[in-house]
Amino acid sequence: REKLPQENTVDDAVRLLSTAKRIIVLSGAGISTSCGIPDFRSSTGLYAQLQAEGKYELDDPQQMFDISYFREHPEVFYSFAKQIYPSNFVPSPCHRWIKLLEDRGVLLRNYTQNIDTLESLAGVTNVLQCHGSFSTASCLRCKDRMPGSVIEPYIMSQRIPYCPKCRPQRDAEIAAIKAYRAQRRAKSKSKGKAKATWDDDETEDDDDDIPEWSGEPGIIKPDITFFGQALDSEFDECLFRDREQVDLLVIMGTSLKVAPVSEVLSHIPHSVPQIFINLTPVTHVKPDICLLGDADSIVTALSDRLGWSIPPPPHGDA
Ligand code: OAD
Repeated sequence: REKLPQENTVDDAVRLLSTAKRIIVLSGAGISTSCGIPDFRSSTGLYAQLQAEGKYELDDPQQMFDISYFREHPEVFYSFAKQIYPSNFVPSPCHRWIKLLEDRGVLLRNYTQNIDTLESLAGVTNVLQCHGSFSTASCLRCKDRMPGSVIEPYIMSQRIPYCPKCRPQRDAEIAAIKAYRAQRRAKSKSKGKAKATWDDDETEDDDDDIPEWSGEPGIIKPDITFFGQALDSEFDECLFRDREQVDLLVIMGTSLKVAPVSEVLSHIPHSVPQIFINLTPVTHVKPDICLLGDADSIVTALSDRLGWSIPPPPHGDA
């Protein structure tokens, strides 16, 4: 697989797409903006919105997805999460174009950074949600995993969901500490005040000082990957296998700012051609072909040139 020099035109992209047999599509938030979902880093993106709103008093808007911050302030994420919860969105031409590649038998895998599950809704089966999704959730303490539907009512009503296993344990633990202290107080009262002891002044109010659990009191977090969390091992496993087979890399709608997904380019053999489709250029990597503009229009134009037809949205949605 010899890389041709100066592959950088639409013609080159059309030729590569017409012959490729095992394509990796690496996608990001830019393929869902036409569905009404903001991306992260554009001037109208989620981070700019969070900054402008100033509602959450974050030092940096990325803190909203930072695991250390979440452990300390889960209420902040849960007061916001409903804004990004996948609802009635319809897959864009880009999502459907990925499905088209799969239907043509040339999609090796779609690595998506998006949590909106629109690739699946478009019918793509070979998709790896590198940054997870809301479809499952886990307790940060006992790691128990549950269907995302369990926490959906909490997200919608902006409440923190607690683990059904850990929370009763914690409640039982608090009850036991309180009972023990009450017993001790009763004992010291019955002995009278002859001898001063360290807990002489202890009152019911002192129960406020019951030590925190080491870890979290069983807070449940949706299984979307936060900054500071490792990606699921499936990411490395898939990439390890796919890098041996891929013959074309198509990158769409991503600023390639977040590792390790942004490093996919460097893990794929240099001989594999790359087509980068994005509204704005990137300067920190040099893909072979850069097609700049609206991704929906670009994949539609490429398909027209190739004589391919992008499938309609599912359920006849417009
Ligand atoms: P970004 O917001 O960083 O980048 C989206 C890119 O899509 C930008 O370069 C836009 O110019 C481009 N774009 C927007 N609309 C477009 C359109 N209609 N057509 C073509 N391009 C368009 O989003 P990601 O790169 O996906 O992670 O961000 C990566 C990760 O950072 C996210 O998965 C998220 C975030 O923090 C976590 O939350 C863990």
